[in-house]
Amino acid sequence: MHLNYSKQRVLLHWLSAAVILWALASGFYVAYGPVSDSVEHWVGSINVSLTTLFIPLFAWRFCLFACEFDAHEAKSSWAKALALLVHLMIYLTIAAVLVTGVLMMKKTISVFGLVHIPQPLQDPSLIEWATMGHIQSCAVLSLLVALHLCAVAWHEFSGRRVLQRMSFARPAGEMNR
Ligand code: HEM
Ligand code: HEM
Repeated sequence: MHLNYSKQRVLLHWLSAAVILWALASGFYVAYGPVSDSVEHWVGSINVSLTTLFIPLFAWRFCLFACEFDAHEAKSSWAKALALLVHLMIYLTIAAVLVTGVLMMKKTISVFGLVHIPQPLQDPSLIEWATMGHIQSCAVLSLLVALHLCAVAWHEFSGRRVLQRMSFARPAGEMNR
């Protein structure tokens, strides 16, 4: 019997999923879709604010993933080891997306106009390198998220209640963690 994820981890999973799915979908749509300059500017500044706020949440989430890592679960079957490996790859790719996003900034990072962080790089060739890294890591993250959603659907259709594991509802008899 699987244990559920802790409440903090469930909350952080769904907050992160909302931020990441929004930033991926709106970021790619604005970059390649038919949008006006004002929409592009508006979505760009909301996304920079939102994803910068997300950085400490992500750090907290990664700490929980590392602290609650269950070596017994990883060793119990090759499928569980593979799932943990894919989850780790998702974390590393999100870290790459966040680092390259900050490094590619060509102006001060404004978090909803309240906090201002100076642009870290000045050299245009390094900024260009970070921009390429951001686009590529976003593409890899999109593939991993698609794989993740297929895996969740496959488990659910095979009768394994993985969504229940990632929900606030506790099965009867299980202690709250
Ligand atoms: C959850 C993390 C993030 C996701 C999923 C994400 C996603 C994306 C995507 C899909 C694009 C369009 C790429 C393209 O041109 O093909 C983009 C562009 C961009 N991202 Fe990110 N990003 C994230 C974090 C950040 C952070 C932390 C920053 C900076 C503080 C940032 C700054 C930018 C900038 C400046 C652009 C260029 C276009 C624009 O101004 O909107 N991103 N991002
Ligand atoms: C609507 C979309 C999503 C659904 C339905 C969903 C569902 C789930 C479920 C059911 C689990 C538990 C799997 C298990 O039993 O081990 C899980 C875990 C996980 N999901 Fe998602 N997910 C979604 C979006 C995302 C996104 C966008 C990301 C990040 C890019 C993500 C990253 C993870 C990670 C890293 C785990 C491992 C557990 C952890 O470390 O918190 N998920 N997801």
